[in-house]
Amino acid sequence: MDCIGVIGYGHMGSMLVDGFLSSGVLGVDEVVVTSRRQESRDACAAAWPGIGIAATNSELARQCRTIILAVRPQEVKDVLHEIFPAMDGDEHIVSLAAGVGLTELEGLFSGSVTRAIPTITSTIGQGTTLVCHGRQVGMHDALRIEGLFSSIGNVMLVGEEELPAATILSSCGPGLLAAVIEELAGAAAHASSLSGDRALELATETAAATAAYLRETGETPGDLVGRVATGGGVTEVGVKGIRERLPEVFDEAVAAMLERYGAVGK
Ligand SMILES: NC(=O)c1ccc[n+]([C@@H]2O[C@H](COP(=O)([O-])OP(=O)(O)OC[C@H]3O[C@@H](n4cnc5c(N)ncnc54)[C@H](OP(=O)(O)O)[C@@H]3O)[C@@H](O)[C@H]2O)c1
Repeated sequence: MDCIGVIGYGHMGSMLVDGFLSSGVLGVDEVVVTSRRQESRDACAAAWPGIGIAATNSELARQCRTIILAVRPQEVKDVLHEIFPAMDGDEHIVSLAAGVGLTELEGLFSGSVTRAIPTITSTIGQGTTLVCHGRQVGMHDALRIEGLFSSIGNVMLVGEEELPAATILSSCGPGLLAAVIEELAGAAAHASSLSGDRALELATETAAATAAYLRETGETPGDLVGRVATGGGVTEVGVKGIRERLPEVFDEAVAAMLERYGAVGK
């Protein structure tokens, strides 16, 4: 049976199962899930009555041709070794693990391998899943996976050499931008009588509206800055300070993240 198997029912695994099933792209009879702890398997069975639950990774591998590895990077190798005896070589392995490259995955499994990097915002059907197919992945399998991930947001096909920087933007990005929203709101509350809660509410709504505005109008961020930061006005003072100091902050942050990215899973 060509069902989709998900190994690891943590943050990402449960998000994918919820997204695939609630979007209707898959039915419960087309998905099999397993996870290390019985508690996680029970949680999945309770959330999605009728879904396939496998007691072990090998049992799942015997039932599914497409197997999504939603375990931490350090666990990918062990899980692949574990399911190997239950596989016939025709499977399509889809790894979500940051930092575990196609060469390494293809060294462990010589069949079809894809890397897919979703983002936490896929929970609400937004954001971009990065997809990078290995050399053995045929057209049918490629389109199937791209279609599946399209049900939880956008899909962008990327070359593996682009993946670290693209991951920083799409997958780490929500964390980075949330930190920026928090700092901006905190600074406004700190310098005024506006409460922290109301400042955060305003900053969050403004961030969402700004992203929607850029997306809908097609203006660049520079265009928008030019519209808002009129000469001698209030915004101009803030933008000037940000443009003087933020490039260095972001250069350092991106360099540190790229360094850490290279070390994950090693
Ligand atoms: N979090 C993100 O925003 C994000 C974004 C893109 C990609 N990723 C990638 O997605 C993967 C999963 O991340 P996550 O945030 O979902 O991690 P997580 O919440 O820790 O989930 C991993 C799950 O794997 C299960 N697991 C561990 N060892 C296992 C084994 N031997 N057999 C079966 N299940 C096992 C654990 O199950 P139990 O709970 O049952 O023990 C755990 O719930 C990682 O490789 C990460 O790099 C994450």
